[in-house]
Amino acid sequence: TTTVRVSPAVLGFTAVAHSLEDLVVVPDGYSVTVMTRLGDPLTAATAAYANDGTDTDFANRIGDHGDALHFFGLSSGGDPDSSALTRGLMVQNHENITQAYLHVDGPTTVGGARPLAEVVKEIECHGVSVSEYVDGGERSWSYVQDSRFNRRITPNTEMALSGPAAGSDWMVTAYSAEGTAGRGTINNCANGITGWNSYLTCEENWAGYFRRDTSDAALRSAAQLTSLLRYGVRTGASGNYNWTTASSTDTTITRWNATISGTEAREDFRNEPFQFGWVVEIDPYDPASTPRKRTALGRCGHEGAFIRVVEGQPVAAYMGDDSRSEYLYKFVSNQTWDADDASASDRLAMGDKYLDAGTLYVARFDEDGSGTWLPLVYGQVPSRPASGSYVEYTFADQADILINARLAADAVGATPMDRPEWTAGNPATGEIYLTLTNSNNSYRPVDGTNAANPRSYWNAGNPNGHIIRLREEGDTTAASSFAWDIYLFGADTIDCDTTFEETNINISDLDLRNDFSSPDGAYFSRATAISGQVNPVFWIETDDGAMTDVTNCMLLAAMPGTVGDGGAFTVTNTDGTSTYTQDTYVGTPATAANLRRFLVGPLECEITGIDMTPDGRTLFVGIQHPGEGGDASAITSHWPTSQSDTGSSARPRSAVVAITKDDGGVIAL
Ligand code: FEO
Ligand code: CA
Ligand code: CA
Ligand code: CA
Repeated sequence: TTTVRVSPAVLGFTAVAHSLEDLVVVPDGYSVTVMTRLGDPLTAATAAYANDGTDTDFANRIGDHGDALHFFGLSSGGDPDSSALTRGLMVQNHENITQAYLHVDGPTTVGGARPLAEVVKEIECHGVSVSEYVDGGERSWSYVQDSRFNRRITPNTEMALSGPAAGSDWMVTAYSAEGTAGRGTINNCANGITGWNSYLTCEENWAGYFRRDTSDAALRSAAQLTSLLRYGVRTGASGNYNWTTASSTDTTITRWNATISGTEAREDFRNEPFQFGWVVEIDPYDPASTPRKRTALGRCGHEGAFIRVVEGQPVAAYMGDDSRSEYLYKFVSNQTWDADDASASDRLAMGDKYLDAGTLYVARFDEDGSGTWLPLVYGQVPSRPASGSYVEYTFADQADILINARLAADAVGATPMDRPEWTAGNPATGEIYLTLTNSNNSYRPVDGTNAANPRSYWNAGNPNGHIIRLREEGDTTAASSFAWDIYLFGADTIDCDTTFEETNINISDLDLRNDFSSPDGAYFSRATAISGQVNPVFWIETDDGAMTDVTNCMLLAAMPGTVGDGGAFTVTNTDGTSTYTQDTYVGTPATAANLRRFLVGPLECEITGIDMTPDGRTLFVGIQHPGEGGDASAITSHWPTSQSDTGSSARPRSAVVAITKDDGGVIAL
């Protein structure tokens, strides 16, 4: 097939202003339909959501904190059809909870113990949902409560471990003496969509859910102590929401306590933390299928896993690890992509083919605008040297390297980044974009900066984040090197006139039409929607940034150009006694012509998931945790009820919205 490239399209909407309203605000000529919300029932027998804290049975309801999402098309006969426009399965991650609104009077603790019913509810609100969406005509979207495809995957759902770390001693638990199975997925943030129509959900801030009593420290091997330290499973931690204080011997509850209590690993849940931090493959079309944790892709605080498939080349997954000073990873499959596999009926078998065997790499960004993919392969990775609280760590085998990918990446000299969030690939060029959400003012001293993360705290830090992009050598997924530039720096243009040099804060010359902070979600319009464009629309979503005093979080649309096509700029970091200058990279200067605010969300929300129908005429967006700072007696947002009823007193709910253009046109153009 030949791609016809014509002149770049232009953004065809008027920028949305900053907003502190309790509404999803979109440009004139667009409409918002609220779709699935926290608590919406997913079976015919499930009661309507009362939204007053009395609801139960969340294993049959939409979960909380909807994050990344994807629309998987269905034919009118109910078969997988990636080109379908009017019927599909909305698959969405449920990253976390706003505890305050899930119970009648907020969360309670009685005599030091969480009530079991509250804990069960909170656990079941996490995970992934599958719900059927239909267009009743002219893009009048609704969801189907009794669809046979509807499914909840929760932290209790059976999972298979797959790939090189399956069966490792580190994976053995009281649930799986062989270390090949586990339960559930948690803190699912961004996603990835495979070429064979399966869904990848990514386990991000899972470490905080584990309790680890101080007694555990004396019982652990040195290797596991180093690993737990590196991944933040802290000694003395009680675990998020104190779930293990509930009075229960049910292992769905007790397994969140990783403290060693038996004599062998198969007698307790000491190894449960090693079963999390993976990319998990789900077949959205088969509600009975068992999801598979793809260990070949490595273990970290996985944000997302953008998949690139090119006929005759290996399949590549680009993956951010969202914590301060963590890394960008790439997985390259051993098998080369056969486009006939796109329509395979056994999708998880395709995952076995492409995602269980390959090479994991981590990125080093060099000052000259080049970069190298460093292989994390046993025999090629040296010991991680002792540093600070760490003792030297020597890898035992490839499973060890994958389970402890962060330690391996340290050992090979990967470039520490300002919190790597989503990855997204430009379908016209193959270039990969990576959002770097921020690093706060107390972090990254001058001597900790690098060309890819140039802003230090002497320079007001990097509170607003930036976006970097790379182009593989030879444009191939298998490349071992790449070119890169910084595409865009976030800035709060209202607060620019601080004590620090203005040029170092608003480097990309943003203005009130496109200023933003803390980029997180990143997405290119579907290739079929932008067919013929050399410059498809790039979407940027923001998360709880440094600008929430002047505007709620937002979604921007951009026409980003290509790596290396912009003007040079310099970041000067001054610490009062020395000057640190970097001027070796270029970026595309932003203007309101190529970067514009498309949407602002309601109070205290984050803008999360994003996808389109294949024709680009419906845009689905996740609105996460509106009103998260409030509680049952002091509700701070009434969205989504407030979208149509400005006098609402309802509790807020995370929800998906469908956005359409009133003239039926392609969104943003
Ligand atoms: Fe869940 Fe890194 O955002
Ligand atoms: Ca995120
Ligand atoms: Ca974030
Ligand atoms: Ca969030």
